[in-house]
Amino acid sequence: MRSIGIFLIFTLLLGAEEKISKKWESSSNCFPCHTEIVKKWRLSRHANSHFSKNDLFKKTLQYIVKKRPNTILNEIKLKCAQCHNPRVVTKTLSSDDKLSLLMDHSTVQGKYTKALNTKNMQDGVNCVVCHNVDKIHLDIEKGSQGYRSVSFGKQGTMFGPFVDAKSPYHRSEQREHFNGNNPKLCFACHYSAKNYQGLEVYATGKEYEQIQKSELEEEGCKECHMSKKRRGFASNYSLGGKNPKIRMVRAHRFASVDNSNIINDYVDLSTSVEKNKFIIILKNRTPHYLPTGYGLREIHLRAIYYDVNNKVINSKSTILGMQWKDQNGEATIPHLAYALQGDTRLAGKRSKKYYFDIPEKARYVRYILSYRAIGNKLAKKLHIKDNFFLKEYILVEKIYRLQ
Ligand code: HEC
Ligand code: HEC
Ligand code: HEC
Ligand code: HEC
Ligand code: HEC
Repeated sequence: MRSIGIFLIFTLLLGAEEKISKKWESSSNCFPCHTEIVKKWRLSRHANSHFSKNDLFKKTLQYIVKKRPNTILNEIKLKCAQCHNPRVVTKTLSSDDKLSLLMDHSTVQGKYTKALNTKNMQDGVNCVVCHNVDKIHLDIEKGSQGYRSVSFGKQGTMFGPFVDAKSPYHRSEQREHFNGNNPKLCFACHYSAKNYQGLEVYATGKEYEQIQKSELEEEGCKECHMSKKRRGFASNYSLGGKNPKIRMVRAHRFASVDNSNIINDYVDLSTSVEKNKFIIILKNRTPHYLPTGYGLREIHLRAIYYDVNNKVINSKSTILGMQWKDQNGEATIPHLAYALQGDTRLAGKRSKKYYFDIPEKARYVRYILSYRAIGNKLAKKLHIKDNFFLKEYILVEKIYRLQ
């Protein structure tokens, strides 16, 4: 008995987390009773946060290793897992293992490959990532640290918004971070993050905190990225043959550009003409930058001018986004950057006029607002193949008559 006790204390001290039991490891376990929630979640990027399901993430890892030959792929993967797969069981490399990995020792290689590819890991930022979060202790000086910014509860206890939820499959407990418009849970990963050089590369939560409370229409993140609260049910399981209880719930859509109309819903576009300029006015009604998040997102504005014969005579464009430079001043990815060279994004709750010269003989202009998950040049450098990242999402395309 005593040795078991000592063993337990030891594992607790080392911070090694127990493996997630088969009963909770995947969203498929929740599907029969939370069918709608699981279906919606599967359409979100949270379901694709493992490198095996995300070409951009995978290629970024390969690119980092190529550019920093003394880094070990599995070691970086463990680091990124902090937010991309926070239930990872093995958290760091021991120095012995590091040496073996540098020498390509296959059994050690196998051990880490296994730890990084469990069913739970492949399931991404899944149900037991968020609903097992007992406490949140974000240190804003350090920024988001994923699993280091939270404490997970006992396996099998689902924390959620309700005090009186009863499930035959799991224990349920209420936690305040699931109630109201509280953004705390999202901040565990979306507040801000720095790269190797200490350069900040994502800062959505920080951007949000810079907005005056009086300017916020929709507080928090859930109103826009999940949905407004609406009547529904939390589980489709019928307890004792009764209908599921009517509850106020939100959609688990974690809306982004590819799975929703979120930009058209919260970014207003209007147009006008002043002297010889065509003007596009953007109003960013979000409480963060447009675009926010991953540092290579781009919003494109284009004005294409036509003459009386419907022939294109000229086209102008502008990009809202960030440019990152390495130590030689070459364009690079945010994770490897030494400096932020330029930032043309539009701050939260701000409007801006974009001017485009009208050429002579222009009869009308076709204007386009579009979005790219990653700029063209770096997509090529990284050898991105998945069209999801390569395609241009056209959000607005209209004609304005000039004469
Ligand atoms: C990124 C974090 C996150 C993930 C991942 C997540 N949830 Fe939630 N979930 C929430 C939040 C936040 C709420 C509270 C919504 C509100 O304000 O009512 C919630 C609420 C719920 C509720 C209560 C009903 C409701 O809609 O309010 C259930 C049940 C639930 N989630 C199940 C799941 C299941 C099953 C999965 C896996 C497919 C999942 N959740 C994935 C954050 C998450
Ligand atoms: C056998 C059916 C069943 C399965 C399987 C199941 N649940 Fe539930 N769950 C329920 C029921 C029933 C409720 C309570 C619904 C209510 O009270 O409105 C519930 C409630 C919840 C809540 C709300 C808790 C609260 O206190 O607010 C969360 C979160 C949740 N489940 C997550 C999960 C996750 C994650 C999984 C998969 C690992 C899962 N459930 C698997 C039936 C199930
Ligand atoms: C455990 C860490 C974690 C938590 C907690 C979390 N997220 Fe995420 N979120 C991520 C990661 C990692 C991605 C990127 C996934 C990918 O694209 O591979 C992401 C992606 C997203 C995206 C899509 C961005 C895109 O790339 O298109 C949205 C929107 C989002 N999260 C909203 C939320 C909201 C709202 C909450 C709080 C209810 C939340 N997240 C909580 C880690 C987290
Ligand atoms: C008023 C609605 C609104 C609110 C509130 C809001 N967002 Fe957004 N969010 C958007 C829109 C629209 C976009 C797409 C344009 C952009 O990137 O700014 C977006 C984009 C994002 C993205 C990037 C998606 C991508 O594809 O890379 C993340 C991450 C994100 N939001 C997280 C959050 C978090 C975290 C909060 C809370 C602190 C929040 N948002 C609050 C509307 C909102
Ligand atoms: C502090 C938490 C955190 C850590 C650590 C982290 N990420 Fe992320 N990552 C995020 C969040 C949050 C997003 C979603 C932001 C968005 O999409 O706008 C994201 C998105 C991404 C994306 C864009 C994915 C997509 O589908 O478009 C890539 C690529 C990425 N991360 C690579 C990495 C790499 C490589 C590492 C490790 C070196 C890493 N991240 C470590 C939080 C983190």
